[in-house]
Amino acid sequence: MTQHVSPVLFAPSATEILERGQWLVRPALRDATSRLHPDVARMAEFTLGWCDADGTPRHDNAAKGVRPALAVLCAEAVGGPAEAAVAGAAAVELVHTFSLVHDDIMDGDERRRHRDTVWKSFGVGPAVLAGDALFALAVGALAETAPQVRPAAVRALSHALVDLVNGQAEDISFERRPWSGLGAVTVDEYSAMAGCKTGALLGCAAGLGALLGGAPADVVNALTRMGRHLGLAFQAVDDLLGIWGDPAVTGKPVFSDLRRGKKTLPVIAALSAGPAVRAELLDLLDPRRSGTGSSESGFRRAAALIDEAGGRSFTTDLAERQLDLALRIIDEAAVDREAVAGLTVLCDLVANRTR
Ligand code: IPE
Ligand code: MG
Ligand code: MG
Repeated sequence: MTQHVSPVLFAPSATEILERGQWLVRPALRDATSRLHPDVARMAEFTLGWCDADGTPRHDNAAKGVRPALAVLCAEAVGGPAEAAVAGAAAVELVHTFSLVHDDIMDGDERRRHRDTVWKSFGVGPAVLAGDALFALAVGALAETAPQVRPAAVRALSHALVDLVNGQAEDISFERRPWSGLGAVTVDEYSAMAGCKTGALLGCAAGLGALLGGAPADVVNALTRMGRHLGLAFQAVDDLLGIWGDPAVTGKPVFSDLRRGKKTLPVIAALSAGPAVRAELLDLLDPRRSGTGSSESGFRRAAALIDEAGGRSFTTDLAERQLDLALRIIDEAAVDREAVAGLTVLCDLVANRTR
């Protein structure tokens, strides 16, 4: 991997960076959830990883907290204080949490972060309401930003949310598209979809951090683009973990994307690589073709074929290229070298994560 950033003597560890972000944003999140009806507060706190479904407190921080850390570091990277980013960091973490609650309903996923998902634990109706509540609190968090930046902050979050919704819509529409031939999903279409569903919010976290840290518009825009590249890397890695991840580490079952017919990047790339493994892979991915596909051993064979056809290495390369683009922008746009070192560590974590 090319290193674009200037060397620094002391870079914090990824754990230190994430914990600091969590520590800074936690009071704002606590304050927000305290406004909710107790039943909804329980679901919100469960989702944020603070308690079990029965309300027993937890202290193991199931959520990584990438977005708050990104917002805080971007505020510092442009010369502002970390505290300036807190309202924006809280807003993006609440939106992220809300989007996962609803996403698990849409994807029919029963496990996340080593636990049953919110809809599985509390029911679909209550989970929809919990998502709505988190969204409402995110808007409230942004109201706490300084008056001179508030309109731009609200605009940024709204734009990111519209992109996220459009990306989700596209992701779901891909499920109905054919695996190959006319109408098959292309890498470019995938990139546009993932840039929206995942990249937009990471872009918003970075851009909001810069905005609240006092950066001019061109720097805010640059760091927003940076976060979007990082988001594409994040989603590519998410797709890899969905096939080759270790459920004991990811906390999610493996193969659920394949089971649902998701057009993830490793599969798209493998199918467009050439005819060598395509016929067998298509049989495995689409059980209607041969009746052999939907078993555990069928998915294991599909994973091996995707790897053999180059789908895994294509996806890893794309994630690395996007990481590289993100690092390049950080080096050009940021002024505080210590924050740059922190951002570099955070970006590396995103592109090389195992959970
Ligand atoms: C989730 O995408 C993106 C949003 C919540 C907008 P995925 O469905 O691919 O992510 P996971 O694998 O469930 O986390
Ligand atoms: Mg999902
Ligand atoms: Mg999804």
